[in-house]
Amino acid sequence: MFLVLLGLPGAGKGTQAAFLTERLGVAHVTTGELFRENIRRGTELGEQARPYVESGRLVPDEITIAMLLKRLEEPDCQRGCLLDGFPRTLAQARALDDALARRGQGIDLAIYLRVSEEELVRRLSGRWNCPTCGAVYHETNAPPKVPGVCDRDGSRLYQREDDRPEVVRRRLEVNMAQLRELLDYYQAQGKLREVDGEQPVEKVREELLSLLATTQER
Ligand code: AP5
Repeated sequence: MFLVLLGLPGAGKGTQAAFLTERLGVAHVTTGELFRENIRRGTELGEQARPYVESGRLVPDEITIAMLLKRLEEPDCQRGCLLDGFPRTLAQARALDDALARRGQGIDLAIYLRVSEEELVRRLSGRWNCPTCGAVYHETNAPPKVPGVCDRDGSRLYQREDDRPEVVRRRLEVNMAQLRELLDYYQAQGKLREVDGEQPVEKVREELLSLLATTQER
């Protein structure tokens, strides 16, 4: 199954993807994390992406598409994966469809996690991440047992460079315009489903699972 999770920054894509990929047994492909990993390792790709990621702008399509298509070639993506943070532009959506079509495959569903702007700002300003396992916390909604320490592996948590208030505002603006076009694109293909992402994490999870169960039955 090839799934796309759509939503503005902070909508809960990463939070839900961590659970869904485990449940479905498919790879979690997240372009944001691929960029951050390359930036941490100081690769050429990381250096190209750094100014965009740290200032909240989209990395140019040619860089992003090339990176994603390479990732899709890996063995764990041959029969399906969950895409989180890609596509973000129409050019990316078309490139993805073309690449999958060449393999005789296609996107099964594009799920939009809808969350209001005020809630997104609140979520991003309180987010903490684990550098080791990628777990996502929130200082009030989903706090770790010990402040600043990952429950799973004891690593010291960090706040993302692009979660600073001025960068958050730019990320929301940049992504909103593109998101509308993507929603129309998948709607026209009859693949778009919407989930109210403002509900508690567990409730969002239940709705996603029931959507997926209906799709798998077909
Ligand atoms: P990326 O890493 O993809 O960031 P994003 O889309 O901005 O999404 P986030 O990771 O910020 O949010 P999320 O929806 O995963 O929310 P989360 O689950 O963490 O991209 C980063 C950058 O990389 C981009 O700005 C761009 O520069 C570049 N990039 C990436 N992909 C690209 C592409 N395709 N093209 C070009 N450039 C690209 O949750 C957020 C917080 O809310 C957490 O604290 C969590 O605990 C909490 N929370 C989650 N769900 C709930 C809930 N239901 N109720 C209450 N709290 C909740």
